[in-house]
Amino acid sequence: MKNTDMNLREHWSTLDQLLTRHQALWSESVWANPTPNWANAYSDLFEQVIGVQSTSDNQLIHSPPHASWLEETDFKARQDLIDIQTLSNANRIETSFNNLSNRAFQGIKGRKIEQIKSILSLLNDQLPVFEWCCGKGHLARLHGRAHSLSGMGLELDPALCTTGEELAQKQGVELSIRSANALLDNSPLPKHHQIVALHACGDLHTHLIDRCASEHPAHVTIAPCCFHRSVHSTYVTKSTHSRTSTLLLDQSTLRLISEETTHASAREQRYTLQSQLWRLAFNVLIDSDNYIPTPSLGQGDFKNGFTHFVDNQLQRLSLNRVFTDQELTQALDKGRSLQQRYHQLSMVRQLFAPALELWIVLDLAIYLEEQGFYVKVGSFCDKQIAARNLIIQASHS
Ligand SMILES: C[S@@+](CC[C@H](N)C(=O)[O-])C[C@H]1O[C@@H](n2cnc3c(N)ncnc32)[C@H](O)[C@@H]1O
Repeated sequence: MKNTDMNLREHWSTLDQLLTRHQALWSESVWANPTPNWANAYSDLFEQVIGVQSTSDNQLIHSPPHASWLEETDFKARQDLIDIQTLSNANRIETSFNNLSNRAFQGIKGRKIEQIKSILSLLNDQLPVFEWCCGKGHLARLHGRAHSLSGMGLELDPALCTTGEELAQKQGVELSIRSANALLDNSPLPKHHQIVALHACGDLHTHLIDRCASEHPAHVTIAPCCFHRSVHSTYVTKSTHSRTSTLLLDQSTLRLISEETTHASAREQRYTLQSQLWRLAFNVLIDSDNYIPTPSLGQGDFKNGFTHFVDNQLQRLSLNRVFTDQELTQALDKGRSLQQRYHQLSMVRQLFAPALELWIVLDLAIYLEEQGFYVKVGSFCDKQIAARNLIIQASHS
């Protein structure tokens, strides 16, 4: 199955069909049940997955979505799952930007520089940038500097606005960043600017898309992210074309997409695993059938050991219980095997994350197409540079 010859609607519809056919595999959170509801219907897949043993903690975290187990195993739905992987690869857009020296990027971290360079190379070099939810306005400033243009931005945090304007001034760029809440601000999008939004979260990018639909700016470039950051508890499709879908992407599914990240350091990964294990072991101790969410742990919380963590949680839940050392050790052992099981199940669910993300991004793109824009969707950098690497480019005559 090839996705290169498909238009946006065909691509979305093919993804929608496959995601609908196998929604049992991704719609249930792996934390809900060590024996998932799909275990019977996909018994061959279930057997294969629970046979995959991780040999190290690192492997537990990095059960990669394109894991070799998919190539090496045999189960009825296998070809569909392989097709889903192929379909979730958006076309890579050619990017190359060498218009500025490294000094211009001073103060920006490595991966962010690469993201910004890729996006700069996709922008119209005649039109100034209006950057939506711009932080310090790096894109607007650097685009202005590269092409001797001014720029504008909108940002909630006044401190970022000030820093952004100061940075621009130092580089001789005329940049004004307005401090406002993008969701409430009614000022029209500036007429003679191209609109750019890099990683404006959830409702912030959908709101911009609504604004573009009504105001029709000439050029729009949006890299969406954090789809779970929304007032809606499930994803609300935007395009008329997508209304045919029966899929429901709830918060757990939307978070699954955002969790696919490449940025965690080895130490952060160790903490994540430790925190998961303790939370699971705590649930075992208090015999909870339902996973009781515990607040996230800071790195300092690990210094005092598991017993201290248990005491804190008991206090938080006003539970009057005392556990022996043996019970604590047994709970940790059981927690470990549950953790292994959840990671085995995650291997299946994670396979769907890129497809679900593209399904959403295509819906947003098709919506803009329905509003008269000419629209392209692709990836602007490798996943190692930005986990959220999809971009929508829309233009209007
Ligand atoms: C993930 S950051 C991206 C910043 C910038 N585009 C970049 O890529 O460096 C999201 C930005 O949106 C801003 N933001 C959050 N809520 C906002 C709102 N309601 N209105 C305007 N900006 C907002 C945040 O302060 C933050 O700077």
